[in-house]
Amino acid sequence: MTDGQPVQQPQPAAPATPPAAPSHNLKGPFEATVLFNKPLRKCFCRMGLQFIGAGAEAFAKTRPGQFAQFDLSSIALPAPEAIPDELKDAATKQILLRRPFSFARVAKEAVPPAHPAPGHPAHPKPVSSGVGKIIAEVVYCVLGPATLRMTTLVKGNSINIIGPLGNGFTVPAGKKRALLVAGGMGSPPLEHLAQVLTTEHPTMDAIAFAGAKTKEDLPFEKLMDNLSQEIGFWLKEFGRYSISSFVATDDGSAGFKGFVSACIVDWLSQNALTFNPAEAIIYACGPRSMLTTIAKLARDKKIDCQVSMEEVMACGIGLCQSCAVKCVATVGGGIPAGGKAPTGEIYKLCCKDGPVFDAKEIVF
Ligand SMILES: Cc1cc2nc3c(=O)[nH]c(=O)nc-3n(C[C@H](O)[C@H](O)[C@H](O)COP(=O)(O)OP(=O)(O)OC[C@H]3O[C@@H](n4cnc5c(N)ncnc54)[C@H](O)[C@@H]3O)c2cc1C
Ligand code: FES
Repeated sequence: MTDGQPVQQPQPAAPATPPAAPSHNLKGPFEATVLFNKPLRKCFCRMGLQFIGAGAEAFAKTRPGQFAQFDLSSIALPAPEAIPDELKDAATKQILLRRPFSFARVAKEAVPPAHPAPGHPAHPKPVSSGVGKIIAEVVYCVLGPATLRMTTLVKGNSINIIGPLGNGFTVPAGKKRALLVAGGMGSPPLEHLAQVLTTEHPTMDAIAFAGAKTKEDLPFEKLMDNLSQEIGFWLKEFGRYSISSFVATDDGSAGFKGFVSACIVDWLSQNALTFNPAEAIIYACGPRSMLTTIAKLARDKKIDCQVSMEEVMACGIGLCQSCAVKCVATVGGGIPAGGKAPTGEIYKLCCKDGPVFDAKEIVF
């Protein structure tokens, strides 16, 4: 034995037919390089990560709403004076588990084709069939020991990441209008969805609604002025895809005063003449109370609805059963977690069966 490794056994003779090419694990772990990491407002930061090679291949396929597990255990803490008082105790906790994050934007940075210089006698080199580099952007809120450590990452640092994991949002056939609803920190997967709708479903009419307690609790870089709200372009994160957006705050410090669900009801009544529920779909991500209200609204108005459930997760890959979500038993099978649910209900795993579910599946 050397270095704790078992002694190699003699290898059998090579088979007559060559074995299939080894397939790498499509979920990683992969190393991602930090491109930027900038504060947005209050606790919110936006970080750009670059994947290359097998990581780029895997993350090029990320669907909006999927997530990845970040290993932040060995990242340094900020200087003591930079740690907010309310996080001073939590900051010293060891980070044993990876942390889940979804993405706000995933873009390809293609490798340019190699052309020979004019007059060069050589044949052109074959163009790389790989996906080149993938840039994935994360918006995070500093809440505890792991996210606190994320703030110290700078350009060139690396993070070990497993993913993409879980199931993302889908666009059912016949849908012509999408209502994107983000509550608090629920905006990143909807920003990513906005990007994908623009490229993959350019004829779909999308509109975004973002709600938070106050103006400062909106995880966006910049809020536009009141005129922009009147014409429906508050947030440049959606405006960059030509998607109009409305903001709602509980205290009225920005946009509509009240819950984001009330803002949507308001919008639906103003657009009742042109709105066809059968051709529309609501996509929502945010706190459970908001998802409950949105799911009920969708049911009452007969609008299809998909929700991204952000349960607290441990393994992120369906092993520990810590992310169970109570679902209606009649819609597909489920995995029992911690015993049998009452008749007519089953448990599904947020990390494996979700995090995106049809709202009708969830027992809110
Ligand atoms: C599928 C998925 C996608 C996510 N995407 C993002 C994202 O894009 N940006 C982002 O900032 N966060 C996201 N989260 C939440 C993120 O994983 C947690 O904020 C993070 O793990 C906190 O780690 P921490 O060590 O800093 O704080 P911890 O000490 O682990 O947690 C701090 C506080 O946040 C609460 N908390 C932890 N996880 C969650 C959760 N999932 N939902 C609600 N409260 C939670 C804890 O109960 C605790 O009160 C996502 C979670 C899931 C499950
Ligand atoms: S987080 Fe372990 S099963 Fe879902």
